[in-house]
Amino acid sequence: MEGYDASTYGDRWADVYDDWYADLDDTEACVRFLATLAGEPAAAGTLVELGIGTGRLAIPLHGLGYDVRGIDASAAMVDQLHAKPGGASIPVTLGDMAEVAVPAAAGGNGADEGTRCAGVFVAYNTFFNLSTEAAQRRCLERVAAVLEPNGWFACAQFVPDERVASGRASDVGVRSITTDRVVLTADRYDASNQTITGQYIDISAAGIALRPVHIRYLFPHQLDALASAAGLERTERYADWARTPYDDGAVMHVSVYRRA
Ligand SMILES: C[S@@+](CC[C@H](N)C(=O)[O-])C[C@H]1O[C@@H](n2cnc3c(N)ncnc32)[C@H](O)[C@@H]1O
Repeated sequence: MEGYDASTYGDRWADVYDDWYADLDDTEACVRFLATLAGEPAAAGTLVELGIGTGRLAIPLHGLGYDVRGIDASAAMVDQLHAKPGGASIPVTLGDMAEVAVPAAAGGNGADEGTRCAGVFVAYNTFFNLSTEAAQRRCLERVAAVLEPNGWFACAQFVPDERVASGRASDVGVRSITTDRVVLTADRYDASNQTITGQYIDISAAGIALRPVHIRYLFPHQLDALASAAGLERTERYADWARTPYDDGAVMHVSVYRRA
């Protein structure tokens, strides 16, 4: 999408993100899953979230006592995170998550190339925001490089459905309608490049806001192959953060990789 870069999504969504996704029902399960993976906060080491956003997951993890840090390309999203109670003390590197480095501890000075961490995670399809195979590959290589020897990488994405797999060209839909506002969606699918380019068209008395999304999706086996090439082997896969067993009917997958 012309003019779309790593910060575009967050910059165009920051003002509505928390409101529109307030009803995400997997936040608690996700926090519990990550806490179990990490172990007791005092011994868990540093956790890094890619695309930390407004802190939906990082703030509760920080509240449980974990040393959680983040990377995000959008200053507008990070401003929202830092304005929340507990959010200001979560260290964030502003930058592209394809170039993962562990953010310096609070009070430190920028990301440190040599620092390692115990775990890296990326939720809510955010890995697909890396919209080329090269960027996805680079990100996984960097994850492997920053993980401690027994480190883990947890990620959650949708499983592409028939609509995208069958190469359907485009879709127009309705996200929400109220008396004073309508949010329409327009998506274009490119099955050969595995990309979806879309707009949420937010129309109200205040005017029209365009909220673009551009992603490159992967089928689970493709993610496994990219991860493996980067030195990360899959050790777990579930259909959700509540550890429901994964099967062919799953609409999303939560996968855990460890350094090979
Ligand atoms: C769907 S939101 C997820 C936010 C949060 N992790 C959550 O679960 O609510 C995606 C986030 O990833 C960030 N993002 C998108 N592409 C990025 C990139 N290439 N590098 C760093 N951050 C990126 C966006 O700015 C946004 O904050």
